[in-house]
Amino acid sequence: MAASLGVCRLHFRSLGGLDRFCLGLEPQTQRRCTSTIPAIKTPTGSKTADFVKKSKTFQAIQEERREQAERSVLISCPAKFSEKKFLDFFSKHGTVNKHFFYNSFGAYAVVEFSNKESIASLKESTGIPAVDHEAAVPFKSRLLSLKWPGIQSSNYPTPNFKEQSPPNIGDISNLLLQKHSVDEQLRCLTETLQLTEENISLRFLVCSLLGDIAGAYFPECIIRPFGSTVNSFGKLGCDVDMILDLDGIYARSQKKGSGLSLEYQVKTGPSERAVTQSILSVVGKCVDQFGPGCVGVQNILQARCPIVRFAHQPSGFQCDLTANNKVAMKSSELLFLYGHLDPRVRHLVFSVRCWARAHSITSSIPGAWITNFSLTVMVVFFLQQRSPAMLPTLDRLKELAGPSDKCVIEGNDCTIVSDLSKIALQKNTDTLEKLLQEFFEFYGNFPFNKASINIRKGKEQSKPEAAALHIQNPFEATLNVSKNVNAAQLERFVKLCQESAWLFQQKENLEPGSTQSNGSVSPWGFAALLAPSVASGTGVKSRRKKKTEPASSRIKNLLDSLKIKGGETVAKKGSANSSR
Ligand code: CTP
Ligand code: MG
Repeated sequence: MAASLGVCRLHFRSLGGLDRFCLGLEPQTQRRCTSTIPAIKTPTGSKTADFVKKSKTFQAIQEERREQAERSVLISCPAKFSEKKFLDFFSKHGTVNKHFFYNSFGAYAVVEFSNKESIASLKESTGIPAVDHEAAVPFKSRLLSLKWPGIQSSNYPTPNFKEQSPPNIGDISNLLLQKHSVDEQLRCLTETLQLTEENISLRFLVCSLLGDIAGAYFPECIIRPFGSTVNSFGKLGCDVDMILDLDGIYARSQKKGSGLSLEYQVKTGPSERAVTQSILSVVGKCVDQFGPGCVGVQNILQARCPIVRFAHQPSGFQCDLTANNKVAMKSSELLFLYGHLDPRVRHLVFSVRCWARAHSITSSIPGAWITNFSLTVMVVFFLQQRSPAMLPTLDRLKELAGPSDKCVIEGNDCTIVSDLSKIALQKNTDTLEKLLQEFFEFYGNFPFNKASINIRKGKEQSKPEAAALHIQNPFEATLNVSKNVNAAQLERFVKLCQESAWLFQQKENLEPGSTQSNGSVSPWGFAALLAPSVASGTGVKSRRKKKTEPASSRIKNLLDSLKIKGGETVAKKGSANSSR
């Protein structure tokens, strides 16, 4: 019978925080990575075997999740219902593999069947609703409403609703203050903010539901998530970046025999970009008019990378649909790979992203801000500079690639090794505290005026253009990932790095804070770095004020000023689309 995702999650959790992402590691890599880092939790006993058995590549993981999503449905549930009856009902259509419940302005359930045929059976018994005073678009999607006949009993035990939003900053700070070291705090931060197994399933399901809409025009198309949904750096509440992948259509067209053959008659456009724009505009219109739960659809087709942006209400996700953006998918794979080589990479990225968000270095509003993607590349670059280096260069990842890894996209060589066991890491045992402190020192003193950040070479390069911040796009060497960033934003970032480095140099900030008479704990470690006085905009000049300000009032200010409640879900979109 039904095994809930809750059980699955417990298993994942038991393997430590990196678990769900580490499933992609090859056995040997896991051994190599863990052997170099003593502090990392390693799975033990029978779990080790299980862990190793589940080793998969990035593509294999994405494919598995996509296939699971195709066997799943999204159900709007009544306010009160019996979980047992719910499962009995769905089990009539086939074995339910997994299910979970969550709240998003109402109760919802994700139900994953063992076989796709169950979806057909379910749809067979599902009716189009009769609506009063309006007319329904009879589009039969996999977003369904469960009708519960008769009076609902209030005695049903409440099912376990899985949280889909990040905790607010106050709760995070309180959690961090209970830890015993900065390293523990940073690991806890990742655990708290990272996408849950259920949230990832929901993201793939939303892509799959969108695929059904686009499939009306292009039956072989696939909508795939990319960006932080899959690159292992996603935080609860982050947007869902999607690619409309039409490769399947072109692949079939190329199968020609030696004799007579047929070709489709097609319309043509003046350029690939124009064709992409026209496809996206039609799909966008369809999403707007027929897509249940899809609201606020905006066609942003003139951007360098044309997108359709909308909110998917039943999941609470902000979605960006793009087409023909294969390089971005490859960048996601690259970040995923870096995130897997050493657990400290993810801890550092999560903490830098959280620190940057708390100080409005990044924003949910598009503008001249540094983006999360840029910050992640900056962390990778910093870790390539360690001695010994913690991460290999992109050129090294290319050298290690096998023949099947060869990948050229629009003339850009995007080849990287997919078998992680081929990557031998150097023995670097830096603590997270040291890494974070030195990250701030590194960028607090970086020669941004003349140097470009280049993870392909793992070295600073001369800036090829006059942008304030130059970060070479990993796979499209002529593009600057942070083209949108202006000098003022860069200066704020640099000053904050200097401040945070200085704060971390004060040893009293690194040890658990004393308990005040009212029972509250003085902010220390990473929690102290989040205090708004650090980010006042006056930068290092405000040090004296900070020193004299009581710690408890700093954390209070933090809680007051950072109203990151319920994440950035629907209102969010802070990426620099113009520079993609
Ligand atoms: N991207 C890029 N160049 C940019 C911005 C984005 O190549 N200047 C690609 C990256 O692969 C990135 C993806 O587009 O991961 C999605 O962009 P965005 O949503 O801005 O970043 P995420 O990594 O998804 O981070 P977030 O959690 O902020 O959404
Ligand atoms: Mg994103």
